[in-house]
Amino acid sequence: MTTPLTLLGIESSCDDTAAAVVRGVPGDMEILSSVVFGQTELHASFGGVVPEIAARAHAERLDVSVVGALEQAGVALADVDAIAVTCGPGLIGGVVSGVMMAKGLSAATGKPLYGVNHLAGHALTPRLSDGVPFPYLMLLVSGGHCQFLIAHGPDRFERLGGTIDDAPGEAFDKVARLIGLGQPGGPAVEAAAKTGDPKRFAFPRPLRDKPGCDLSFSGLKTAVLRARDGLVAGQGGLHAQDQADLAASFQMAVADSLAGKSTRALQRYSELSPAVPTFCVAGGVAANMTIRDLLETVSASANTTFLAPPLSLCTDNAAMIAAAGIEQMPLRPPDDMGLSARPRMPLDTQSAAMLGSGKKGAKA
Ligand code: KG4
Ligand code: ZN
Repeated sequence: MTTPLTLLGIESSCDDTAAAVVRGVPGDMEILSSVVFGQTELHASFGGVVPEIAARAHAERLDVSVVGALEQAGVALADVDAIAVTCGPGLIGGVVSGVMMAKGLSAATGKPLYGVNHLAGHALTPRLSDGVPFPYLMLLVSGGHCQFLIAHGPDRFERLGGTIDDAPGEAFDKVARLIGLGQPGGPAVEAAAKTGDPKRFAFPRPLRDKPGCDLSFSGLKTAVLRARDGLVAGQGGLHAQDQADLAASFQMAVADSLAGKSTRALQRYSELSPAVPTFCVAGGVAANMTIRDLLETVSASANTTFLAPPLSLCTDNAAMIAAAGIEQMPLRPPDDMGLSARPRMPLDTQSAAMLGSGKKGAKA
């Protein structure tokens, strides 16, 4: 049996400054502590995450996050086996702050340093929360990312498809702004949608009839803008019921799109692998109950087990980074001081570049 390892994890790739201590072996891990400092209030008046403000806040809070995580876990820095840190993809100022912090700790203590892909952290979350065996199918849906992956192993992910433009969380945030709701947009749209009619506006389901597992959300966002402008032009503004109906109709379009392509991804998975997979979801958008419910229904129709980890592990956190470190340590040597922070860092480097993904690779 492998000896359990204790890892300190550090995450600062977007707008959450986080540190955590996780102990265990691959597929069987326990979270000893998980500290997350959100930055919602710092960005609220700007209608989105401001990279420079985020980077400064990370630089200010990383040290207290690490101290807090070690204290809550009752573990001294000298007793951790290694330090795992998100080294990309993300807002570069934040990623640099975390990587520099981890390098400093590693240099001062001699502890091995492991740079972890943030997306691997999300994609391996079902191993941390439920010890799900490989392979499994993962839908990663967050503010910056949207992709279907087959997780073959801790460092082997096969991308079946993903968004060709906006990520769903990004679309939720933009739509919230368009219809006068606060940030982050996901929870605000979900709350408003509770009293709305999801059938009032016939918003598009982009790429629905196109083969494959790719998705698109930017046209949907434009359709919401047009519907809003039409209402404003006709009646001089939005009533609360309009806001709720726009939110509900938009949310249903996102849920439908994700559900439709999940059916395809499950079919594709069954062609590639005889094992019946667990279908897992991760990322902040996985917090949405309408989306979860629809994905669960799709899963049940395909006779597949559906797993959505607890919300605290769906949104950004450092426990998933420490856990990914524990998973990957047996497979690779530690990084050295040459570890660099990367704004873009695809998980599956084998799959063909996507149309619309830009010269530097897929955005989401
Ligand atoms: O995974 P996450 O914490 O950070 C990224 O790596 O992006 O995801 C944050 C995103 C935001 O865009 C937020 O609006 C969205 O997840 N989100 C939601 C909900 N809660 C958070 N989207 C839809 N419904 C929700 N309940
Ligand atoms: Zn994330």
